[in-house]
Amino acid sequence: MQDSLTLIRTSDGSHTLKSELFQQHYHSLHGAIQESEHVFFKEGLLRYQHIRNLRILEVGFGTGLNALLAFKYNKERNSKTDYISYEAFPISIEIAEKLEYGKWLGKDYDKTLLSMHTAPMGVTQMISEEFSLLKKQEDILEGMDEEEVDIVFFDAFSPGSQPELWAVEVFSNLHACMKQGGILTTYCSKGDVRRAMLMAGFKVEKCPGPPGKREMLRAIK
Ligand SMILES: C[S@@+](CC[C@H](N)C(=O)[O-])C[C@H]1O[C@@H](n2cnc3c(N)ncnc32)[C@H](O)[C@@H]1O
Repeated sequence: MQDSLTLIRTSDGSHTLKSELFQQHYHSLHGAIQESEHVFFKEGLLRYQHIRNLRILEVGFGTGLNALLAFKYNKERNSKTDYISYEAFPISIEIAEKLEYGKWLGKDYDKTLLSMHTAPMGVTQMISEEFSLLKKQEDILEGMDEEEVDIVFFDAFSPGSQPELWAVEVFSNLHACMKQGGILTTYCSKGDVRRAMLMAGFKVEKCPGPPGKREMLRAIK
């Protein structure tokens, strides 16, 4: 399926994309980097500081921003991360080159992001000695068969646009991929989503949301 993508500058200055196909932005217009850091790091990964070998599963690789922030985090604390990301509609290298997250994270991170985008699908690639990336060009509705995942970054387009991705079956599937005590975070705080997570067997907490959003969800296995 061909999507038409527009580059957009968000309020913290960092870029996001708008998808014509889904009529959705990849991040909050209040700030792409700010949102990712809040939802997936402050309320997610930073709760796992005690674990040196992390296994992260992402739903929706998109721009690669979450993977890039996980790479940066991993480098700063000298740990080891295996990052697995599902993406049904990968963006082109030409679009990835325009994202320029290096302006905020440091020049070298532009090169790192490109190495992530050029990495082949379905093959584990060492982005550095301590950070592996496995991208899977698969529809998550067809199942995910990962094991022993510590953290899930659930970053699908909104339930209004893709309700089928926020369903009990998808959360049950993710639950089965996770370690006991593992956590899943998402920017969404909708009651239906919270109930679907509960039905899938998670304990669910509401947390303060990123700028522009009152709340978000954290699900714990
Ligand atoms: C909100 S965007 C992802 C944002 C991304 N994490 C980032 O930092 O740019 C949602 C992503 O999910 C992908 N997607 C949509 N439907 C999907 C599906 N059924 N299976 C896997 N990925 C899907 C979209 O192509 C898009 O890249």
